[in-house]
Amino acid sequence: MPPHATARVPGELVNPGRPVGIAFTGCGYAADFYGATLPNYPWLDVRGAYDIRADRAQSFVHEYGGRVYGSFDELLADPTVAIVVNLTPVTLHHSVSKAALLAGKHVYSEKPLATRLDEASELVRLAGQRSLLLSSAPSTVFSQSAQTLMQAVDDGLVGRPRLVHAALDMGALAFMAYTDWHSKRGVPWPFEDEVRNGCVMEHAGYQLSWLVAMFGPVVRMAAHTASLLVDEWTTLDAREVAPDHSLGFLEFADGTVGRISIGWVAPTDQTLTVIGDKGTLSVGDVWQASEPVMLRRRVDTNGKDHAYLAPPEQLPFVVPAAGYRYTDTHDLTVGAGVADLAWAAAENRQPFLSSDFCLHLLDVSLRLAKGTGVAESVAVPPSADEKLSDSYTRHLVTAGQRHTRRSATADLAGGKRRT
Ligand SMILES: NC(=O)c1ccc[n+]([C@@H]2O[C@H](COP(=O)([O-])OP(=O)(O)OC[C@H]3O[C@@H](n4cnc5c(N)ncnc54)[C@H](O)[C@@H]3O)[C@@H](O)[C@H]2O)c1
Repeated sequence: MPPHATARVPGELVNPGRPVGIAFTGCGYAADFYGATLPNYPWLDVRGAYDIRADRAQSFVHEYGGRVYGSFDELLADPTVAIVVNLTPVTLHHSVSKAALLAGKHVYSEKPLATRLDEASELVRLAGQRSLLLSSAPSTVFSQSAQTLMQAVDDGLVGRPRLVHAALDMGALAFMAYTDWHSKRGVPWPFEDEVRNGCVMEHAGYQLSWLVAMFGPVVRMAAHTASLLVDEWTTLDAREVAPDHSLGFLEFADGTVGRISIGWVAPTDQTLTVIGDKGTLSVGDVWQASEPVMLRRRVDTNGKDHAYLAPPEQLPFVVPAAGYRYTDTHDLTVGAGVADLAWAAAENRQPFLSSDFCLHLLDVSLRLAKGTGVAESVAVPPSADEKLSDSYTRHLVTAGQRHTRRSATADLAGGKRRT
């Protein structure tokens, strides 16, 4: 088994020494996350923004600075722009990033790099051939929580990591008031795009980026997806909606194994727990930049006691809090990825979120979204036990006639049986 990796994430983002010109393309919902956190990195010089909806570009520059570009070509022709930040819808990431690279710009893309691995690989190749940098969100690895967790793992506080449990279940989206969600500038949350892209392509990176940073690349995996609430969307055809739940088994290069659950069906669970041979480390919500990192050390036990972990202790953060945050349901440190790219460009090296790293996250995300590997059929031989028979199962799913007794749980469900 390879030895456990050592710390790789830069602790604090460093001023590259001179302003770096950046421009935004796509000024929708997520753009406010960026605008609000950019002042943390005053060397990022916002030159302007473009959106096919001029009103959105206008409101963005009004709030966050720079000028409105009349076209994407005009943005690309601006010699003061070194980095293009691509915040267009996911299906446009490839074409927009490609145009920016061809125009000689470094690119920071929202996640995922592209919707297909071959298209993302093309971008990585193109960047390499042109000595340009290509990087992608999420950049929550720079958060106080992530930095502290990674440091604690590298310092061996839980010994050797063996197992990791990760979840990005954000609650039952179809039952939430998602049409009421608006960004600071009033841009509505683009729920149709989100549910078409699916929970995995939208959210897997928030866990995978931390896991791969800690344990190395995924070397073996299996996944299973399900479409559980897809017919609950009132404005979307269930056939256009991506699976809304994915369960994955992951094995990392350092030998750590893990399970990951991603979806918008189960109640909110955005936890990450690293289980080592000397204890556990956990973060309650990977979407909150300053979520406490809790250590439970292994302790000796005796007698008939199942307890083997000491009470949780909160670890001190290893990096300071960002001064400027986006006060939303999640605090994603978004500007940090652009800042790290600017720093890397000034030093002529790859950013922490390198193109290869982002490509690997996309590769694993696509496999989690496809969900192949564990869906084998289970043959059930004929049995006298009616619970194992087809007819019993059919009875359960068709609100049966045999169990006519009203139960307490049926009362709780308003007297209804599942149909
Ligand atoms: N919505 C979220 O909560 C959230 C959070 C973090 C990251 N993201 C990511 O951010 C990216 C953008 O998502 P969003 O939620 O801001 O979507 P959005 O639809 O609100 O914004 C996208 C913007 O791009 C513009 N646009 C469309 N085509 C364009 C083109 N050819 N050139 C320039 N602009 C164009 C649209 O007019 C729109 O204003 C996605 O990759 C998404 O995964 C979204």
